[in-house]
Amino acid sequence: MAWQVLLFISAMSLGLALGQVSYSIPEEMPKGSVVGNIAQDLGLDLKRLKSGKARIYTDQSTEYIELNRDRGVLAIKERIDREALCGQTTPCALHFQVILEKPMELYRVTVEITDINDNPPSFTVDEMKFEISELANAGARFVLETAVDNDVGINGLQSYSLQPAEHFALKTQNLADGRKTVEIVLQKQLDREQQEHMSLLLTALDGGEPQMSGTMAILITIIDANDNAPVCSQPIYKTSVKENAPKSTLLTRVSASDADQGTNGIVTYALSSTAKALSEIFQINSKDGALTLIGQLDFEKNKEYEIPVQVKDQGGLSDTCKVIVDVTDVNDNSPMISIISESNEISENSEIGTVVTMLNIKDADTAENGNVNCVLNENIPFAIKASSNVFYSISTDDVLDREQDSSYNITVTCSDEGTPSLSSSVTLSLKISDVNDNPPVFSSAKYYASVLENNAPGVSIFRIQAKDADWNQNARVSYILEDSTVNGVRISSYVSVSADSGVINAVSSFDFEQIKNFKFQVKAQDGGSPPLSSNVTVRINIQDQNDNAPQVLYPVQTSSSVVAEMVPRSADIGYLVTKVVAVDVDSGQNAWLSYKLQKATDRALFEVGAQNGEIRTIRQVTDKDAVKQKLTVVVEDNGQPSRSATVNVNVALADSFPEVLSEFTDFTHDKEYNDNLTFYLVLALAVVSFLFIVSLIAILSVKCYRWKQERMFYKSNGNLPVIPYYPPLYADVGGTGTLPHPQVFNYDAYRTVDSRTSDVKYDRTCSRSIVSLDTPGTATLPHFRTEKLICDDSTEQVRLYLHTLSYIASEM
Ligand SMILES: *[C@@H]1O[C@H](CO)[C@@H](O)[C@H](O)[C@H]1NC(C)=O
Ligand SMILES: *[C@@H]1O[C@H](CO)[C@@H](O)[C@H](O)[C@H]1NC(C)=O
Repeated sequence: MAWQVLLFISAMSLGLALGQVSYSIPEEMPKGSVVGNIAQDLGLDLKRLKSGKARIYTDQSTEYIELNRDRGVLAIKERIDREALCGQTTPCALHFQVILEKPMELYRVTVEITDINDNPPSFTVDEMKFEISELANAGARFVLETAVDNDVGINGLQSYSLQPAEHFALKTQNLADGRKTVEIVLQKQLDREQQEHMSLLLTALDGGEPQMSGTMAILITIIDANDNAPVCSQPIYKTSVKENAPKSTLLTRVSASDADQGTNGIVTYALSSTAKALSEIFQINSKDGALTLIGQLDFEKNKEYEIPVQVKDQGGLSDTCKVIVDVTDVNDNSPMISIISESNEISENSEIGTVVTMLNIKDADTAENGNVNCVLNENIPFAIKASSNVFYSISTDDVLDREQDSSYNITVTCSDEGTPSLSSSVTLSLKISDVNDNPPVFSSAKYYASVLENNAPGVSIFRIQAKDADWNQNARVSYILEDSTVNGVRISSYVSVSADSGVINAVSSFDFEQIKNFKFQVKAQDGGSPPLSSNVTVRINIQDQNDNAPQVLYPVQTSSSVVAEMVPRSADIGYLVTKVVAVDVDSGQNAWLSYKLQKATDRALFEVGAQNGEIRTIRQVTDKDAVKQKLTVVVEDNGQPSRSATVNVNVALADSFPEVLSEFTDFTHDKEYNDNLTFYLVLALAVVSFLFIVSLIAILSVKCYRWKQERMFYKSNGNLPVIPYYPPLYADVGGTGTLPHPQVFNYDAYRTVDSRTSDVKYDRTCSRSIVSLDTPGTATLPHFRTEKLICDDSTEQVRLYLHTLSYIASEM
């Protein structure tokens, strides 16, 4: 054992009373371990120890060592911890006395406690934490806690070591006061981005055998410094977007990374300040780099955008990248139609192909979106043609007619080929100007008008009207009376036509008895240049008025002679004495005559046929009857009001001529007319003979007429004054009675059912033949005129008029 080697006797020479002995023992000896043989060392035998009651005296509270009197040795009573006993003080010894009695002896014993390496170096803390900026420069020092080793000497703390020693070096320093310091010194720049945390192990070592150590962890957190700029993930981002993309469309996301930490690593995105204008269209989210659209794109203005984006960290470091936005075309532009030149009016006789309008048509879009096709509205005589891809012309492709369409709305519709297609249209209004290409047209092909005779001159009869389809002056119609003659008289003496209104006025008063109708032509002429015109025939019928009283043709009334009808006294009842012949030049009702006996010498002897004017006897003539009978007959027409005439008829009731003569002197006497009777009679005979011949001829004419109908046709030269008349209504064709006198000189035959409808209908085409017989005479000029009207379309209404026209000049 080592401590036994160290055992020594320090002093034995203290005299009687005092011996001294020293021992050296290591600390921490187990209990009972022998420290030293005190008996032997003091030279005392064991009996003495016992008898002397040897004991240990110490002033220390704790007895570490006890005396074994039986063995005479000192042994460990309590474990001895040098560090507890002496701390760092060296040498460390226990001092006590061994006291003997009888005799009293005192021995000093010193037991030196030697250190053993029973304590490792130790740190007061297990770990130390440091936060070191990565910007810390090499050479920076960081003081560490020192370790403590309670052992002393070689067993105490000897050295430190640091693991790993890459970034830091360990430096120990002995201070003047004897303390030691331990530091770590930064050897090499730190980089948080490489290694954020470091853990080092500091080991403290003592020099004992075996060596003991203690460790402390050094935890280093490297504090970030903004030493890294943010970096875009791509230098250029490319994206494309439709030009009609709505606002807030996400275009792309710019991303940048920053190796730094914390705020130094927070990247913000912004549009580069050099691109101010773009900030109205694009917006970048400063936090996440999302690039969105906030404005309106227009492919037609800008097809591509280069947006510089600046990424920045909080420390002010930045990077720039670029976003290229390709704008793609969308069919968002309608074709634009602009009118280069346009005519508002075109003449209706323009040739086909006349250009009316030139257009310029553009579409701002590209490709199909900008390809434009133009069409016109349908059913108009115009066509559109492209003269280049932007110029179009509209021209006529059919004949124009202002009268059909006076204006056109030409709608040009242009559409592009995009999907969906956009179109725009423009409407041009085009007037067609008039050309005088339409003559006036009368409202009727022929006009019929009637006017009552005896009209006031200047009265308007009728109005004709012609329309002209042209316009304005070309449609201004003037009416012109075409020159012609009626019965040798110029038509302008009959009627006039108002040039403006087409009203036809009578110029003179018409007389139905002279002219029943006439026709003329009116020309309507427009105001065009040259003017166009058309003709129309106007036929005017003159209507009858009861303006003529009946005229008695027979018996002839004279003031200078007396004519008497001779009736033989032997005449039977119903003997036809004579016939009152009267005419009325009016027509129809106005000429419908009736006869009445107004006055008579003997009313019981004669009667007058109301219809035929025949005077017949109604009783046997007796001798008592006077030779001279005088009758007054009234002839009345049926007009409203009616007109009448009276006639006196002298009748002689005698069987012989001389008888008459004798009587007739009275007649002449009555009339105070005293002519030469002989002359008168001769004249009467001549007249009678003449009339007889005329009657014969008339009958022959009728017969002739019936045979040859229309062959015999004479035209009256009409220059002689004539009194035309239409006979009353006789129905005595082939009558029973025969005229005993040859004085009958007219003869009418009607074949009509109702005489009241005997008016001639002018709207039928009738042929008329006039038979007239003129016998040039010296004293008397009878004229016979036979008129026949045959209306082709009616078998019922074939009428035969025998109009006898007579004029007798009674005065010679
Ligand atoms: C043309 O358009 C105008 C205005 O819309 C209209 O009054 C007129 O009747 C049209 N003309 C034709 C010929 O369609
Ligand atoms: C109209 O009548 C006149 C005379 O009758 C004639 O000369 C002219 O040609 C006619 N005009 C027309 C358009 O029929």
